[in-house]
Amino acid sequence: MAVVTPPPPSAWTPDSWRSRDAAQQPRWPDDGELKRAHAQLTGLPPLVFAGEARHLTRALGEAAHGSAFVLQAGDCAESFTEFSADGIRDKLKIILQMAVVLTYGAGVPVVKVGRIAGQFAKPRSSPTEQVGDLVLDSFRGHMVNDDLPEPGARIPEPARLVTAYQQSVSTLNLLRAFTKGGFADLSQVHAWNQQFVASSTEGRRFEDIAEGIDSALRFMAACGIDLRSENTLHQVDFWTSHEALILDYEEALTRRDSLTGDWYDCSAHMLWVGERTRQLEGAHCEFLSGIHNPVGSKVGLSATADDVIALCERLNPDRIAGRLTLITRFGVDAIDATLPPLLRAVQEESHPVVWICDPMHGNTFTAEGGRKTRRFDDIIGELQGFFRAHREVGTWPGGVHVELTGDDVTECLGGVEDIVEGQLHQRYTTTCDPRLNGRQSLDLAFRVAELLRS
Ligand code: PEP
Ligand code: CO
Repeated sequence: MAVVTPPPPSAWTPDSWRSRDAAQQPRWPDDGELKRAHAQLTGLPPLVFAGEARHLTRALGEAAHGSAFVLQAGDCAESFTEFSADGIRDKLKIILQMAVVLTYGAGVPVVKVGRIAGQFAKPRSSPTEQVGDLVLDSFRGHMVNDDLPEPGARIPEPARLVTAYQQSVSTLNLLRAFTKGGFADLSQVHAWNQQFVASSTEGRRFEDIAEGIDSALRFMAACGIDLRSENTLHQVDFWTSHEALILDYEEALTRRDSLTGDWYDCSAHMLWVGERTRQLEGAHCEFLSGIHNPVGSKVGLSATADDVIALCERLNPDRIAGRLTLITRFGVDAIDATLPPLLRAVQEESHPVVWICDPMHGNTFTAEGGRKTRRFDDIIGELQGFFRAHREVGTWPGGVHVELTGDDVTECLGGVEDIVEGQLHQRYTTTCDPRLNGRQSLDLAFRVAELLRS
C-alpha cells in the first residue's frame, strides 16, 4: 500500500487556513452564494500592490529601530450606510493634523496608517446581544450583516463581501487622490483644521504650528530652494489596514506578486489579527504567516511572555524589521504590570517588533444608558504607562493605534469639552466601539508629542 506523506507544515497556500480552526467566522446560510461571492472577488483587481506593501514594511522597520513613529487610526468599523466623500475627507484631515502635531512637536517621521478601506468586520465576545427586549445575533460588521435591531438584519449575507470590496475601492481611490493630488500639500495645513476643532484650545495650538510651517516654507523659498520640486512637501504616503477577520474575503484578494513570486493579501497594505483570533495554531495566524505584507497582532491581558515570543516566531521567523507590529491593549490599570515583562522577553530574543499602544480596547465599559464608552483620561493614562514601560526597559515606543472620526461625536467621555455620561446620546453614531472626536484626537496627538519629547 502506498504511504501517503502529509504535506510539510511550510506548505502554505492562500487557503491553507481552511484546515485550521477559524474563530469568529460567520455562519453563512447559503454556501452557493458564498462561493459565488468568493469567485467574483477572485476575479477583481487588487486594491494595493505588492511593491507598496514592501515600502510600508521598510517604513515600519524604521519604527522598529526607533527612528519613526506610527499613527494607526480610523473607525472601529466602517459603515455601508454612513459613507460619503466628506466623511473620508474629514477623517483624513484629522489624521493629517495629528501627524503634523507629532512630526513638528516631536521631530520624528510619522508613518500614517488608516483603519480604513476594508475595516468592515468585527469580532464579538458574545454570539448574541440584547437590544431592548430582543435577543439578536450579534452585529459582525457590514461585511457580514446589518446593525439594524431586527432578527432578519443579522443574517450573514455573502454579497456583502463584494460590497465591502467596492466601498474599499472607492474609499482608497479618494484617499489616493487626496494624498497625492494637492490636498495633503503642506501649504494646505490650515485647511485641515475643521471649524469645530479650530475654535478649541487644541485648534488654536494647531494654528500656531501651521503658522510655524508657513514661515519655515517662506524661509526656504527665500533661500532659493525650489519648493515645487520637493515632492515630500506636496504629497504624503498614507497606508491602509484592517483586521484580517473574514478569511474568505482575505483569501480571495490574495495574489502572487509577479516580481518576486511571493504572496500578498492585496486587500490592504497591512493586516492584523485581533485579540480573539490570534491563536498560534488557528486559521488567522496560519493565513498571516504566509502573506508578505506587514502584519500585526493585538496583544491583550491573557498574553504571557512565552505567547508573545511564540507569536514573533510564528509571524516573523526571518526577523524582518517592520514585518511584525504588536498592538498592546491592556487597559490603564494593568499596563504598568503587564507590558514591561513582555518588552524584556522580546528584547532578550532580539526580535524586531514595532510596539504600538492601543489605549482604546482595554478601557471600554458600558455607561448607565447602555452605551459603550471610554474615558479620555483612561486613554491618556494607558499611553503614559506605555511610554513609562518603554523608558524602563530601554525599548522604543513605536506608535499609537486609535479609533477616531473627524465628526463632532459624543462617544468618549471627558476631553476638553468634558463630555459626561448624560451627553453620550447627543451625537453617538458609531456602529461598534466609541471613537474619539476631532478635538479629542488632536488633544491626544499633543499629549503624545509631549510624551515623545520627554
Ligand atoms: C478592534 O480593534 O476593533 C478590536 C476588536 O480589537 P481587539 O481585537 O483588540 O479586541
Ligand atoms: Co474597536
